[in-house]
Amino acid sequence: MNNSNIIMRIENLDKYFGGLHAVNSVAFDVEKGSIKSVIGPNGAGKTTMFNMIAGYETPSNGHVFFNDILITGKKPWQVAEHGVLRTFQNLKLSNHMSVLDNVLLGWHSLGSAGFLDGMFSSPLSRREEKKAKEAVFPILEWLNILDLKDSEVGNLSFGNQRAVELARALASNPSMLLLDEPAAGLNMHETTDLAKRIEKIRDQGRTVLLVEHDMSLVMDISDEIVVLNFGQKIAEGKPSEIQKNEEVVRIYLGGDDA
Ligand SMILES: Nc1ncnc2c1ncn2[C@@H]1O[C@H](COP(=O)(O)OP(=O)(O)OP(=O)(O)O)[C@@H](O)[C@H]1O
Ligand SMILES: [Mg+2]
Repeated sequence: MNNSNIIMRIENLDKYFGGLHAVNSVAFDVEKGSIKSVIGPNGAGKTTMFNMIAGYETPSNGHVFFNDILITGKKPWQVAEHGVLRTFQNLKLSNHMSVLDNVLLGWHSLGSAGFLDGMFSSPLSRREEKKAKEAVFPILEWLNILDLKDSEVGNLSFGNQRAVELARALASNPSMLLLDEPAAGLNMHETTDLAKRIEKIRDQGRTVLLVEHDMSLVMDISDEIVVLNFGQKIAEGKPSEIQKNEEVVRIYLGGDDA
């Protein structure tokens, strides 16, 4: 890569599911420290893109480079070790555990060797436990959820559950976060809080790749937007450019997602 500001380069990614060309030769770069959003109607291939980037699906063709390292073909945990972490379209938190324990799971994944030992066989030593909490409390505080640390996740509002999900992801100190529809199910107030949190994460120097249907959120916080339709990239640019793009406007006003 000749541009050192590029943290991720996606080269002609393809995914076929049988006869369905779900992702069709999609290519784009992601600038370091930016929020880039991937939008498009249902079934456009957004989640499939994420799955290929994060190692959950093998591309039929194409490459993803992260910091100049080829990450396609690696397992999700290997991709995460490189600093690329994804969240899921449907929350994957442990509802019966406390906020703190959920976020500690993210922290433990840092030292993957001791992870399973620590969580499931031998209890953490006092010292390890103290170290873990010291690492995690500032993240909870930073996201304004420290007062919820002992609450069961299942009892929280969706907005706070999303914040816990972000905290858990941040606990493993990723340089890039892939967020799949983080605003799904949130009310307006919760969406505003989420937007502020995502911007704060970007302002820390991390890179965010966002899939989201909430257009006002996308237009507000994105530095750049990629538009997919039927697996193909049909537009890429700044929010102001995307809003003026005729093909994009036609898809959004003419389709189910208007
Ligand atoms: N594992 C799979 N096997 C077969 N087809 C799949 C699989 N995963 C996704 N698809 C199909 O690939 C296409 C792209 O799906 P994908 O989930 O990537 O879309 P999306 O843009 O994330 O949509 P949404 O906005 O609804 O989340 C869809 O037609 C979907 O049905
Ligand atoms: Mg999806």
